[in-house]
Amino acid sequence: MPNQSPVVSPHELERSSVVANSTMNRARGLTGVNGYARELGFEPLEFLAGRPAPAWLDLCSGEGRALRQAAAALPATATLTGVDLVGPLARAPAPPVLEEIIASVGSWAPVRTYDLITCVHGLHYVGDQLGLLTRAASWLTPDGLLAAHLDPDSIRRSDGSPAGRPALAALRAAGFHYSSRHHRITLRGGRALTLPFRYTGADPAAGPNYTGQPAVASHYEHEHQ
Ligand SMILES: C[S@@+](CC[C@H](N)C(=O)[O-])C[C@H]1O[C@@H](n2cnc3c(N)ncnc32)[C@H](O)[C@@H]1O
Repeated sequence: MPNQSPVVSPHELERSSVVANSTMNRARGLTGVNGYARELGFEPLEFLAGRPAPAWLDLCSGEGRALRQAAAALPATATLTGVDLVGPLARAPAPPVLEEIIASVGSWAPVRTYDLITCVHGLHYVGDQLGLLTRAASWLTPDGLLAAHLDPDSIRRSDGSPAGRPALAALRAAGFHYSSRHHRITLRGGRALTLPFRYTGADPAAGPNYTGQPAVASHYEHEHQ
């Protein structure tokens, strides 16, 4: 049944109760039951090991705990960047290799490429999810890895009807892999790409997603090729 809920602007979305939800888990560490390694299905530090100047960008980084823990284990040549609308609430100074940026991932862009780009349970709150995945693909190094949680049910047509299947087909055709079991999308190797979807707005009243938490639906016109 098409969802008739209002589709809102980026400004309204970022101020909505779903995105500014203080009860969401923003404090995952690198390891442990809810940690990044478990959620991503690989150890970020193992992936970065052996690189002379490892670079990791964490989108929707929350408190930035995983990055802070990684900073303690990586060489001084590392670059760690966290981007979050709110940023860390604990204001202990960040270690020198870590940059904590308070910005929307919908408009922020880096000035360099990264070996690892993660978005752990962050896309659920982003308006243009396909646009962010497209832009992030271009921020990867040639052998870099992008890994994010994605709920295809949150990709809709402008009338609210499902568009997850054609969106996943387009993502796969562009080189992404999707694990429906883990709700994880991954891409190996940076590239410029375009997807045949035009973003038309977001619905913060879409209801809970597979995590059980209220999440955002992203609306698109599917531009058939
Ligand atoms: C469920 S939390 C996950 C945080 C962190 N990745 C973790 O696992 O601990 C989602 C985070 O996404 C952030 N967020 C939501 N929309 C955002 C946006 N447009 N730009 C940047 N961050 C955003 C929220 O502020 C929140 O910190």
